[in-house]
Amino acid sequence: MITIKNLSKTYKTPSGETRALQNIDCTIPDGQWVSITGPSGSGKSTLANVIAGILAPDPGGHCRIVLDEDNLDLDVCMANDTQKSELRTGAIAFIHQDFNLISYLSVLENVVLPDILRKKKPDWDKARSILAQLSIESKENNMPDELSGGQQQRVAIARALYSDARILMADEPTGNLDEISRDEIISIFKELHKNGMTMLVITHDHYLAGMAQIILHLEDGRLV
Ligand SMILES: Nc1ncnc2c1ncn2[C@@H]1O[C@H](COP(=O)(O)OP(=O)(O)OP(=O)(O)O)[C@@H](O)[C@H]1O
Ligand SMILES: [Mg+2]
Repeated sequence: MITIKNLSKTYKTPSGETRALQNIDCTIPDGQWVSITGPSGSGKSTLANVIAGILAPDPGGHCRIVLDEDNLDLDVCMANDTQKSELRTGAIAFIHQDFNLISYLSVLENVVLPDILRKKKPDWDKARSILAQLSIESKENNMPDELSGGQQQRVAIARALYSDARILMADEPTGNLDEISRDEIISIFKELHKNGMTMLVITHDHYLAGMAQIILHLEDGRLV
């Protein structure tokens, strides 16, 4: 269960302040499929990054993640760096809008990154079979900058599938894909959801957004 209370995020830059999230309150029970929608600049990626502990919100907000199976009860707004990095290599798999692939690691190494970060022996066979499932196994020894945008996106998705996370956070996961790859990703997501994963999917794709049980729609940093 994810419980968000009074969550705000203000970006301060030399050119001024942007209130990217304003007093967000919501509850996401385990195993739900949630779509996060809203126009460009409405705060979707900011919300995802705060939930995953990547961005610190304004003081006074709460985002509590309770996963009984993982023995986890953490308010990411209060968590220290170790707890936040454990969250991102454990309970939450994040497919970033800009993929976040490590440029000096090969495709295969990028997929097993969660294990590299937590100093666990990688399961190379598992990584290869996920790359095959996403029809990108021929690129396992390539570097990210040798791939197209859609191929990089599939590597980012492969990395999320590799981890045994209970929460999937996906920021525009089908944004760079052709129709066939998009449909493949949607069917993989359906399978993950059937297996009990909590899905938080930011998307402009109406069909993908419609898969959700809960729709969180943001406008100017507020839930509407
Ligand atoms: N690092 C940053 N520094 C300053 N302002 C930022 C930063 N990141 C985002 N913003 C601002 O915060 C607001 C929300 O941005 P965010 O990236 O969360 O939007 P989004 O809904 O994900 O948009 P998109 O659909 O284009 O990805 C925007 O006004 C944006 O300009
Ligand atoms: Mg975004």
